[in-house]
Amino acid sequence: MTLPIHVQGAWFAGALLFILGLKGMSSPSTARRGIVWAGVGMGVAVLATFLIPGLRNLGLMLAALALGAAVAWVSGKRVKMTDMPQMVAIYNGMGGGAAAAIAAIEFARGDAHGPVLTALATLGALIGAVSFTGSCIAFAKLQGLMKRAVRLPAQNIVNLVLAALALVLGGVMVAAAPPRPELIYAFFVVALALGLVVTLPIGGADMPVVISLFNAFTGLAVGFEGYVLGNPALIIAGIVVGAAGTLLTQLMAKAMNRPLTNIIFTPISGAAQGGQAVEGTMKEVGPLDAAAMMRYAGKVIIVPGYGMAVAHAQHKVWEMAELLEEAGVEVKFAIHPVAGRMPGHMNVLLAEAGVPYDKIFDLQEINGEFPQADVALIIGANDVVNPVARTDKSSPIYGMPILDADKAHNVIVIKRGKGTGYSGVENALFYEDNCRMLYGDAQPVAGEIIGHLKSMG
Ligand code: TAP
Repeated sequence: MTLPIHVQGAWFAGALLFILGLKGMSSPSTARRGIVWAGVGMGVAVLATFLIPGLRNLGLMLAALALGAAVAWVSGKRVKMTDMPQMVAIYNGMGGGAAAAIAAIEFARGDAHGPVLTALATLGALIGAVSFTGSCIAFAKLQGLMKRAVRLPAQNIVNLVLAALALVLGGVMVAAAPPRPELIYAFFVVALALGLVVTLPIGGADMPVVISLFNAFTGLAVGFEGYVLGNPALIIAGIVVGAAGTLLTQLMAKAMNRPLTNIIFTPISGAAQGGQAVEGTMKEVGPLDAAAMMRYAGKVIIVPGYGMAVAHAQHKVWEMAELLEEAGVEVKFAIHPVAGRMPGHMNVLLAEAGVPYDKIFDLQEINGEFPQADVALIIGANDVVNPVARTDKSSPIYGMPILDADKAHNVIVIKRGKGTGYSGVENALFYEDNCRMLYGDAQPVAGEIIGHLKSMG
């Protein structure tokens, strides 16, 4: 069916708004605007769909829209910043599931699309189904509903057999078009199982990379189904999401120094093995001395990590930074690309606390400045400042780019105890002569430092 020009035009306009939205999201200062543009694009695309002549099931469509919008509104309002990764996972899974569902309906209707479109629909269905079940497992793990990584015997062989079976069934569906219902069911059962089985053994800490990969998958699936339906909004949105997800996956894998194949085929969970033993002792400092060291410094670089996020200490940290600035200290924030548990985690937290964007620097921008810093203040970060990543070839994190906080004249580390970070690797920086440990939960400790700074005037 040829669609009216105003529907096609509106979808195209929606797609352009997605692109403009994504462009806006590339910088923190325009990100909010980008989100609004993309949201308006989505609204336009959805409304245009209702203008297709001869639509059936209008009541069902409206009910689904109302239900989806209500769930998204409530969950969007309630979600905590630290729970964002699982929110992204479940929304992404819904996108993949929707793409697979579109394909399922097209197969079930038995409409003659020709072999090329049927092949695209099948590929989209496979990728969307994998993304759906995989994202559901990712959500369950990050939400703490599933505590353990489950690894099957001969895991990689099971993965390969399921993937091959899904492809063979898909091939038969294309050849047999229109496919019989049993074939459609068998194909979807295998595709959904593949997503489950591939994701189950992956540890919670690798999940953000996997979510990002599934995000790319969902984009691809949506793009394929867009071709099948002749919908430019779906095609362009799918391509944009697919490309962005692929780039993000690569960036994260590189910043963690974990090749993607390693994450999927040899997942680690728990403490990592390997690396040389670290010698020496950790030296303590109290909040008063830490406050004095920073109050009388010329330049302080603050390195936030996952611990700052879980402690919700960002507001106190910014209050502390403002007091230092009032006292004439130059303060900058250094953000590692994988600080925290999802991309952009730290930037969003700091922005939420009111830290101006021009004080936030990424790894390449700030690393050269650590040797001139009087104090590097590390708050709940660990792996992202571990110098063994530069020096110890036997360490599991060797090669991971790190923030060179150890090169500052003095380093102060706020953390609760002597525990390691996510990788399980001992941090050599904590034993260096220029490093002092300030033990405690990041939020109350920052509060104590603020109190001392105020009394110093
Ligand atoms: P981590 O290496 O996980 O270290 C966080 C530190 O925070 C811990 O050593 C912990 O020590 C401390 N901490 C925890 N709760 C705290 C609290 N309430 N107050 C004060 N300190 C607290 O974090 P990071 O340096 O941000 O590195 C991120 C890690 O996650 C990297 O290994 C990265 O590869 C991985 N990862 C990141 C991503 C993305 S995209 N961001 C994705 C997957 C994996 P104590 O227990 O002693 O307090």
